[in-house]
Amino acid sequence: MDRYAVFGNPIGHSKSPLIHRWFAEQTGQQLSYDAILAPVDGFADAWQQFRTAGGKGGNVTVPFKEQAFALAQRHSERALQAGAVNTLYIDSAGTLHGDNTDGAGLVSDLQRLEVRLAGANVLLLGAGGACRGVIGPLLAAGVQLIHIANRTAEKAVTVAQTFTGPVQASGYDDIPKERWHLIINATSSGLEQSRPPLHEQHLEYCELAYDMLYGKVPTPFLSWCDRQGVPQTADGLGMLVSQAAEAFYVWRGVRPAVEPVLQKLREQMNG
Ligand code: ATR
Repeated sequence: MDRYAVFGNPIGHSKSPLIHRWFAEQTGQQLSYDAILAPVDGFADAWQQFRTAGGKGGNVTVPFKEQAFALAQRHSERALQAGAVNTLYIDSAGTLHGDNTDGAGLVSDLQRLEVRLAGANVLLLGAGGACRGVIGPLLAAGVQLIHIANRTAEKAVTVAQTFTGPVQASGYDDIPKERWHLIINATSSGLEQSRPPLHEQHLEYCELAYDMLYGKVPTPFLSWCDRQGVPQTADGLGMLVSQAAEAFYVWRGVRPAVEPVLQKLREQMNG
């Protein structure tokens, strides 16, 4: 049976094994999928051990996406754009490929939510790893403008400079007055039960507020947007399942249906 695994630290709460086992069941694919806890500075060794034991491919989560990028011998265009790898696979010649399915996962979740992306103005909050990976796929989906806002403005400017195309950046106080149709929270603020310091004036034209984090209850950012009257809010559980579906497709050449797995996962989380 082909072996796959997710590598992270911590990894105990990862939903990836469950998601991929459900995908395998749904598509009739024979595979195993485990969660592997690697030491913070020991990703390469953990991967090598897994590979020696017959591992075919892996997912990589915090804090190993940059180490996985360094380990991969070949990179997809989207991994190069993100500067990070969340999906690894070995081809028939034994070459290790690094890919990044996070941005594709976000875009397909936004499509599932029936958001208009073509011509949309997007406000992207945060300038860490979660932000970089989604810019290329959002541009490819036809958005008109992406403005990155970050507490530390210089970090946002540095990220914006790595892209050719309509990508701007600033601190929260210098966000231009635009019609922001889609606002995406890519900060880790929700983990501290807080929200980014966004002024409410920027919510006026917002059709969807999205938070890449997810949980049993809405993040502080989503609750705030809801209270301010933003018509639609969504958390990142759909992105999680969609990036996994894209990785499954990279490995197996079969695209699993996201919706039933997302529903089961949501039920399990709330149960
Ligand atoms: P990741 O790779 O998961 O994005 P990261 O690289 O540590 O994690 O980045 C975290 C992002 O969340 C950063 O953009 C950070 O802002 P700073 O660069 O100014 O530190 C942002 N962030 C974290 N907590 C925040 C909060 N309470 N309000 C606003 N932004 C926050």
